[in-house]
Amino acid sequence: MSLEISARAGRAASATTPLLACLVATGDGLPAALRELDKSLGGALRRSFDRRDFRGNRDETFHLVGGRKGPRRIVLVGMGSPKDRPAAVRRAAMLAARFAHRAGVGAMTIVAAGTPAAELEQLVIGAQLGGWEYTEMKTPPPEKDRRAPLESLVLLVDDVKAAAEPLRTGRAIGAGYDLARRLANSPGNVCTPELLTETARTIGKTHGLKVTVLGRKEMEKEKMGSFLCVAQATTQDPRLCAMEYRKGPKDQAPVVLVGKGLCFDTGGISIKPAERMEFMKFDMCGAAGVLGAMEAIARLGLAINVVGVFGATTNMPGSNAVKPGDIVTASSGKTIEIINTDAEGRLVLADVLHWVKRFKPAAVIDAATLTGACVVALGNTTTGALGNDDALMQEVIEASRRASEPAWQLPLTDEYKEQIKSVVADIKNTGGRAGGAITAAAFLNEFVEYPWVHLDIAGTAYTESDLTVMPVGATGVPVGTFVEVVRRRAS
Ligand code: BES
Ligand code: MN
Ligand code: ZN
Repeated sequence: MSLEISARAGRAASATTPLLACLVATGDGLPAALRELDKSLGGALRRSFDRRDFRGNRDETFHLVGGRKGPRRIVLVGMGSPKDRPAAVRRAAMLAARFAHRAGVGAMTIVAAGTPAAELEQLVIGAQLGGWEYTEMKTPPPEKDRRAPLESLVLLVDDVKAAAEPLRTGRAIGAGYDLARRLANSPGNVCTPELLTETARTIGKTHGLKVTVLGRKEMEKEKMGSFLCVAQATTQDPRLCAMEYRKGPKDQAPVVLVGKGLCFDTGGISIKPAERMEFMKFDMCGAAGVLGAMEAIARLGLAINVVGVFGATTNMPGSNAVKPGDIVTASSGKTIEIINTDAEGRLVLADVLHWVKRFKPAAVIDAATLTGACVVALGNTTTGALGNDDALMQEVIEASRRASEPAWQLPLTDEYKEQIKSVVADIKNTGGRAGGAITAAAFLNEFVEYPWVHLDIAGTAYTESDLTVMPVGATGVPVGTFVEVVRRRAS
């Protein structure tokens, strides 16, 4: 299911479309591009502004029927008074596309005359995200009840040539989000470590990336006792996967993107409560983000070296499962006392973060649905960011802002190391209730030897409730952040 997007230079008044959308900021009044259409409707559009039936407030929509000719129906979408215009355009485009998707119109046209390239790109991304729904596992309704999914989008622009590049980049990034959301929404019995690596191989074949996959045996050879103890009681073979995209100078140190890929997290022997456990199929959103970002980066054709890596497995209880009190040895040689088998993401990442040292990275950014504590601290709209390098931190936070996936820094000072000291081993895998997102990052920090930022996406990678612009399920975070970091470095 992909949205076909094209740009056309034309008049709104004569657009024969089932739905014409126009994005309007507060106080803008009737947009110039709608004046002719307004006349043909006897001034109906102007009246809705003058009477303040539509004000252009954020997330406001106003729906009108069209005339005998031109658009069949019209929807005005408010952007409020945006500080960040590209972000506001993206959100309004999401809302417009979601409206079209729900109305079952099949095709829509968005007025984009005079929209600068950076905003046009965000409009294209937003439209793809807003019209998106996960329907793969549903039986389609009978023909007579079927509503047309949104399949075609036309942008009305002044300059079709100038629109070509933002359309291309917006589509590439949209495709990355699409892949990440599709994988993440797939249930644990479909989205297995195997499926994730098969997806990596497909991306590799399509775009010419070198793909390396380690299974249980290969990880045993690497002495990855930390990763493997999580995979001890699952029948699904765990996977460590690397995808090397090398379009930069030969000697250029790569950016390495790392994702947590827990295809399901039961908690293991420290089992989670039944309520809402089904959402733990989303515990692979970091890995899905890496795959989506690699897809987008390859489509963009950026001149840079990037390696996408993820560790994938399933956290299960069982008679052979790892237990609290067990001590395992990571590939770095450090010994870890297992306090809680539900703190499994950091155990997987410990060996993955040590392993990526072989790429001699310029920077490593990992994304993981790591802690409930991060959700308590920052809620569902902001990602937690922790790291060991101030410049890289600023770079990642700025990229997350450009991508409308805001991240906020949490402190990672040496004091937090105290909380993960173990009586019987080098470190332990939990640090108590206080500062849980930070002590998790402090644990990861024990395995890192390069400039590094960790993104805790536990609150932002998926939504458990329907949002104005998004259905329940995966949001696609952190695809945009990854892409923005990489493309800024490539330019
Ligand atoms: N995958 C969870 C974290 C999580 C929680 C993600 C809620 C999304 C929403 C992680 O593996 C986990 O279980 N973390 C524990 C750590 C604790 C045992 C120290 C947690 O946050 O409770
Ligand atoms: Mn867990
Ligand atoms: Zn987990």
